Amino acid sequence: MALTEFLSQLDELAAAAQSAFSSAADAAAVEAARVEFLGAKSGRLKAVQKGLGSIPAADKPAAGQRFNAVKQQIEAALEAAQKRLAGTATQATAAGCDPTTPGTPLALGHLHPITQTIEELKDIMGRLGFSVAEGPEVEDEWHNFEALNIPAAHPARDPLENFYLTTASSGTAPTMLLRSQTSTVQIRVMEHTKPPVRIISLGRVYRPDTADATHYPMFHQIEGLLVDRQVTMADLKSVLRLFAASYLGHDVHIRFRPSFFPFTEPSVEVDMQWQDRWIEFGGAGMVDPHVLRAVGYDPDEVSGFAFGLGVERLCARRHHVTDIREFYKKDVRFLHQF
Ligand code: PHE
Repeated sequence: MALTEFLSQLDELAAAAQSAFSSAADAAAVEAARVEFLGAKSGRLKAVQKGLGSIPAADKPAAGQRFNAVKQQIEAALEAAQKRLAGTATQATAAGCDPTTPGTPLALGHLHPITQTIEELKDIMGRLGFSVAEGPEVEDEWHNFEALNIPAAHPARDPLENFYLTTASSGTAPTMLLRSQTSTVQIRVMEHTKPPVRIISLGRVYRPDTADATHYPMFHQIEGLLVDRQVTMADLKSVLRLFAASYLGHDVHIRFRPSFFPFTEPSVEVDMQWQDRWIEFGGAGMVDPHVLRAVGYDPDEVSGFAFGLGVERLCARRHHVTDIREFYKKDVRFLHQF
């Protein structure tokens, strides 16, 4: 056989094999093409190889070289087809995503530290028998002041001390404000409940304070109210002690300092010492008889205690946060720690 004829057979074979492998749509088609072109017994490459024997001796090296090149080319086409089809089985791999890798965990959010604290405080007080009451953040003057024994001329009603929304001069509508304390809820509950009363209320309060490490114009209070027969200051102190020990730990100390609130008599500031530092957490006292009367209770029949503590301060103390403004900066690096 002449060299040229041999070479043209090889070229034809290479082209046929190339198109067969590249058009094979599945593994069976690839296998069929493999048998057709590379089959050991009756493959077409084998058949062409037979012609090699009849090539003139001088042309044999060239013919052999060309033959080997075509053989490699066909084998490469086979391999490419196999790879291509393996790729379609896990198509995503080709697209740069391997479905068998463990994956990137989703960054899940979680409750804000203040919300977590509120849930925990509800839980602690729930175990002491206190149920949760709620009241509106937009309040009238009766609940925020009047019924709490804070009369019109009282400095606590100063427009500079409160976020008034409407005032009497703005029409016939009652004066409304953002509540400055959760003590409003004491009134709302007592107005509709006969004693005994044993509630807590947790929520936002608003005061036009300049923000600093321990103040913020909006913060949360936990208010507690217990009214029953013969409730004493000793009950107040033991409930607050249990509360503090449950939240901060048994190595907590609690101290009352004489103070004044229009709606409690006597009144105290509540300090807690934990890990060698005393911190003021809020106020408390025995519900003033004026308040009991304002809601229709008989101060000769029942007595009660009330307290109002800052939730941010409690949370900050426990987690060693030195600036409560951190809670409202929306910095996830800070928030993720809780
Ligand atoms: N309402 C008071 C305050 O906001 C706290 C307080 C609540 C004091 C209940 C006495 C009784 O400062």
